[in-house]
Amino acid sequence: AAISPAERPAYHMTPYVGWLNDPNGFSYYKGKYHQFYQYNPYDVRWAPMHWGHAVSTDLLHWEYLPCALAPDSPADNGPGCFSGSATEMDDGKQLLMYTSVIAEKQPNGEMRDIQTQSIAIGDGLDYEKPACNPVLTQKDLPEGFSKFDFRDPKIWREADGTYSAVTVCLAEDGSGAAALFQSKDGFDWHFVTVLERCNNQYGKMWECPDFFPLDGKQVLMLGPMEMLPKGEFHNGHNVIAFIGSYDEVTHTFTKENVQLMDGGIDFYATQTTLAPDGRRIMTAWLQTWSDTEDKPQGCKWFGQTICPRELHIKDGRILQTPVRELDAVHGKRTFHENVTVQSETSLEGIKGRVADLTVTVQPGEYRSFTLKLAADADHHTSLTYDPYTSQLTLDRSYAGSRADIVHRRSCKVRSQNGALKLRILLDKNSIEVFANDGEQTMTAWIYTPQSADGIAFAADGEATITAEQFELNL
Ligand code: FRU
Repeated sequence: AAISPAERPAYHMTPYVGWLNDPNGFSYYKGKYHQFYQYNPYDVRWAPMHWGHAVSTDLLHWEYLPCALAPDSPADNGPGCFSGSATEMDDGKQLLMYTSVIAEKQPNGEMRDIQTQSIAIGDGLDYEKPACNPVLTQKDLPEGFSKFDFRDPKIWREADGTYSAVTVCLAEDGSGAAALFQSKDGFDWHFVTVLERCNNQYGKMWECPDFFPLDGKQVLMLGPMEMLPKGEFHNGHNVIAFIGSYDEVTHTFTKENVQLMDGGIDFYATQTTLAPDGRRIMTAWLQTWSDTEDKPQGCKWFGQTICPRELHIKDGRILQTPVRELDAVHGKRTFHENVTVQSETSLEGIKGRVADLTVTVQPGEYRSFTLKLAADADHHTSLTYDPYTSQLTLDRSYAGSRADIVHRRSCKVRSQNGALKLRILLDKNSIEVFANDGEQTMTAWIYTPQSADGIAFAADGEATITAEQFELNL
């Protein structure tokens, strides 16, 4: 199945041409949301990294701006400008902080990529790298940390104007960590503390850290490259959040709870920003490194970011909901109330590949409930809920992709007596599922031809459902 330009998602950000991985520099600056991204403008595969750049006023429609960073300075002329972030300076300029990577000859003659942190300063359109780069190197880390894995700075301003940044780094014992740095002016940085270590729990090496206050708690969010112990949550790239408290005087982070951020297949490299109205909004790469080879032939762009989500904390857990800007583009509504479902049925008007669909299943005597999306005779992606185990399973085995990549994931959705509410965002090549008001999410890329636009419902036993679907006016 080829992803032709006509199949470009309607409200998920994609690169105009070329390759995208992590979103970078997610920020609100000069009246617009900025989303930069790991970018190869020349091909639909990863290569020395540039920073693509797009802006939006509603987080749904993105306007392309010129490439913001290219691997062209002595500090980053190897594999390029890796992930990083953005904040505003006192003089109104925008400060980008990113990982600059050079290939360096080692004493044994071997070439290896060295990771350091650099900055670039700009006006929202053009960015310049100062000659002082890099601003953080292995020398700034405590003894015992590697120069090969030290990356992905997430930067913010403290209330007193201090610049803070969290990065990931790798201790010589092979265990990843998240480290905090500070600076008075954005140029001169120093190490403050190690906030948290993997300790062979919750992954080995981490990537793309973020550290932010949320509803009276402090969240450290990051992406384990591989889950450890194996089998916990699931293996492969993932995003977890430690929810806890932070003592700003001693710089001590105390974790109280840990949560898997998405139980689906394609979700990685999260980054958050504060909206002008105080909302904490998160974006992410709608993919992981595990399945980027499943690429349509002849596609000119590859990669997309999620529909940004608002974050809240309830009962010690992070809830995720699609940004409310999506409600403003709700078009034609189709509504079916209290329909009894047994064998597979469809409901009039409920279909499509670009939609915002909410299905509520009443508590009752059903053994399992299945929702089929992007369906035709040969394809579907299913969501199945088992009220006895509270497992929600996403299965894209019939979504038209390669056989040898991950197609099925399950996660636990806390519900009472089998009551279930699924809000599903469909956008041509993806589905994002928000279960029970964002208590759990599941995200996946799907490869299904666009003509497969059916939606069907089925229950083992008898389920009473209500379905509400909005077309989206984009
Ligand atoms: C995460 C990541 C980052 C790195 C970037 C390189 O997906 O591996 O750690 O900065 O991608 O493109």
